[in-house]
Amino acid sequence: MSVFNPTLYAGRHVFVTGGSSGINLRIAQAFGQHGAKVSINGRKVEKLDAAVASLKALGVDARGFAADVRDYAALDGALEAAVQAAGPIDVLVCGAAGNFPAPVAMMSSNGFKAVMDIDVLGTFNACRAAFERLRTPGAAVIAISAPQAQVAYPMQAHVCAAKAGVDMLVKTLALEWGPAGVRVTSIWPGPIAETEGMERLAGDAASRAALEQKLPLQRFGTRDEVAQLALFLASPAASYVTGSVHAVDGGMALLGGALLSL
Ligand code: COA
Repeated sequence: MSVFNPTLYAGRHVFVTGGSSGINLRIAQAFGQHGAKVSINGRKVEKLDAAVASLKALGVDARGFAADVRDYAALDGALEAAVQAAGPIDVLVCGAAGNFPAPVAMMSSNGFKAVMDIDVLGTFNACRAAFERLRTPGAAVIAISAPQAQVAYPMQAHVCAAKAGVDMLVKTLALEWGPAGVRVTSIWPGPIAETEGMERLAGDAASRAALEQKLPLQRFGTRDEVAQLALFLASPAASYVTGSVHAVDGGMALLGGALLSL
């Protein structure tokens, strides 16, 4: 259930990278269900097409643009096509991310690089390519980061390094783009049910139950709970909020890295 006005984003154009599934698809749905024109980006065409069809089935004004966020030219082309189709961008959500659990001793240089490239370079590419296409003043950029940006977890060295980079990029962009009327913020989803990330990190029922029992709120979050935060951060209700990091993690980050055992 949303606490927001269903026409809150009427006439607005929201572009979501990594929008074909999981948290990012739910974010795209939520903006669409609040009146926005939604453009989603993903790298696999079939998955992207299915996601666009699912949005349209909900009555969302949606379109998809395939590109790997690591490829600047491809992403630039996707953003241009989105602007041609639905006008300047009001909200950019940088959601594309990579993750797999592995200790550093079992991680190749290429595995580390894959996550750094998707998360850090991909977020930079999306922001850089979108900047001149944002409707300003009043545009909002939201990066999907994670508690790993500040809390060190075993088997997450690549993600910890990458998300710390994403959050510092967010803060720098907030400084540079504030005068242009662009707010830039970061969301930390914690353990969220029905996501590829949690399937990889705590896929079986026993691991999930053990982790849930340790969390202050005693359960995994929902994709909708992340989407509600995104709706707030991009809205006029958050008009003085920029450069900040917002956890929606049931209190997980407060517990530190010892939460996940070695
Ligand atoms: N353990 C150790 N290394 C792994 C791994 C694992 N579970 N999964 C992938 N890697 C390594 C690969 O071996 C490869 O390294 P190598 O060339 O030295 O063998 C490297 O990571 C890149 O893998 P590849 O599958 O070619 O990269 P990709 O760009 O297609 O995929 C990933 C990127 C690895 C991040 C992949 O997990 C992915 O696409 N994830 C997207 C979805 C996702 O992670 N969602 C959750 C977000 S929270």
